[in-house]
Amino acid sequence: MRIVLVGPPGAGKGTQAAYLAKNLSIPHISTGDLFRANISRGTDLGVQAKGYMDAGNLVPDEVTIAMALERMGQPDAANGFLLDGFPRNVSQAEALDKALTAEGLHLDAVLDLEVDEDEVVKRIAGRRICRNDSSHVFHVTYSPPKKQGVCDECGGELYQRDDDSEETVRTRLEVYHTQTEPIIDHYREQGLVVTISALGKVAEVTERAMAALEEGG
Ligand code: AP5
Ligand code: ZN
Repeated sequence: MRIVLVGPPGAGKGTQAAYLAKNLSIPHISTGDLFRANISRGTDLGVQAKGYMDAGNLVPDEVTIAMALERMGQPDAANGFLLDGFPRNVSQAEALDKALTAEGLHLDAVLDLEVDEDEVVKRIAGRRICRNDSSHVFHVTYSPPKKQGVCDECGGELYQRDDDSEETVRTRLEVYHTQTEPIIDHYREQGLVVTISALGKVAEVTERAMAALEEGG
């Protein structure tokens, strides 16, 4: 299956993607994680992306689209993928459509995670990420690690993302409403959108997502 996950910052895209990708046996491709990995390795791409990310703005399309398509072209993504954080505006969506069509491929579903802004703020404020692997995600209250500040999965140090400050979150939400939400209409025209509530326990949301994908995907 080829799936796009969409939803505001802090909706739980990364959290759900980890379970869904495993259930569906497809790779989880997160452009945010790819950028953060480049930042921690100090690559040119990371240096370029960091300023935009810290301010809560989108990294320019030419950099992002090339990086995302390159990742999707790797062998583990040949039979499907779960995209998290890409596409994030209409021109990225058009570039993805074009690249898939050129290969005779198409998306199967766009899973839209719905959550109110108060919950988003609570989720982001308590989020802690592993230094070794930014897909290891915890929350100080909702899913606390067994030992404070230490990743359950690999023993790495947990930290708060630079772009999780209150001011940057406000910008990220605004960017989501103005630039990312329009892709939902873009994909609705293609009959691909399935919307679910992202409220409730992590496992409940995963169940809801799997059921929606089976029905609508
Ligand atoms: P990115 O990393 O994609 O961030 P985001 O979209 O803002 O999403 P988040 O990672 O903040 O949230 P999430 O929905 O994954 O939530 P999570 O699962 O962690 O992008 C960061 C930046 O990179 C962008 O601002 C931009 O600069 C750049 N970028 C990335 N892609 C780009 C693109 N395509 N184009 C241009 N620029 C791009 O969950 C949040 C917290 O809630 C966690 O602590 C979690 O434990 C907790 N939680 C999750 N589910 C639940 C639940 N059901 N109940 C209680 N708590 C929960
Ligand atoms: Zn870890």
